[in-house]
Amino acid sequence: MYENILVEVRGRVAIITVNRPKKLNALNIATRSELVAAVEELRNNSEVRVIVLTGAGDKSFIAGADIGEFEGRTALTQREVMRGTRAFDVLEECPKPVIAMINGFCLGGGCELALSCDIRIAAETAKLGQPEINLGIIPGGGGTQRLTRLVGEGKAMQLILTGDMIDASEAKAIGLVNEVVPAAELESYTMTLANKIAEKSPIALQMAKESVKSAARMNLREGLEHEIDLFALCFSSEDKEEGVKAFLEKRKPEFKGR
Ligand code: COA
Repeated sequence: MYENILVEVRGRVAIITVNRPKKLNALNIATRSELVAAVEELRNNSEVRVIVLTGAGDKSFIAGADIGEFEGRTALTQREVMRGTRAFDVLEECPKPVIAMINGFCLGGGCELALSCDIRIAAETAKLGQPEINLGIIPGGGGTQRLTRLVGEGKAMQLILTGDMIDASEAKAIGLVNEVVPAAELESYTMTLANKIAEKSPIALQMAKESVKSAARMNLREGLEHEIDLFALCFSSEDKEEGVKAFLEKRKPEFKGR
């Protein structure tokens, strides 16, 4: 069904793999459209509770936008491409948790896709950066906004103005990735994390993601009010009844997503 990505569902976890290893999984327009379609499909699949995003091969997560497509492209066309596919927003707005499994080069639009995910796990061998400045352009998939919110203005500015790549340990030190693991353990570590999250109530996961995300767009007072609304909404779910009952009965809860 897809030409540039692979989608695999393993129990409650879906794995989307950008599959253009010869181009280091660079994001061409077709890949962006397929990513959007896959996330929309998985968002509506009630079996799937967590999504993992990665790149094919052991060299690259995603090495950015497909630079080959930039040649000769006009400003208007480029704006249409960015506004038309919205792969970054679709990942961020997906109600299910999304984990970036960063297995190598995570650059430009690849770094911006990782920034649109909720948790980032990197292999020790990963290299991250926003190298657009070297092409005479700037990040256009949220890099100046999401990176700044995640690591602070000083670090974001340095990465974006120099275009330098940093290694996984430095990315962890500045808060760009959550965890760094040996490359051979990246998949098992990430899948264990994904399965752990997938055991929680999907309703509570959705409310938690929405509430945390709202911190970037609301002031503190609005955010606190919004949190109370979402917290209260959890009390309308069967999962909340099950979670409380299971605790009192000293057993593991079975969340149904209702
Ligand atoms: N767009 C299109 N093609 C890309 C690409 C991109 N972003 N990144 C890598 N590729 C292609 C290369 O052109 C090469 O294709 P070829 O074999 O047909 O010549 C292939 O992927 C392998 O890349 P190569 O450069 O030979 O690997 P390397 O190990 O020497 O270098 C990088 C790896 C990531 C440092 C280098 O490929 C690079 O700088 N890529 C561009 C990163 C970038 O600027 N991203 C932001 C874009 S806005």
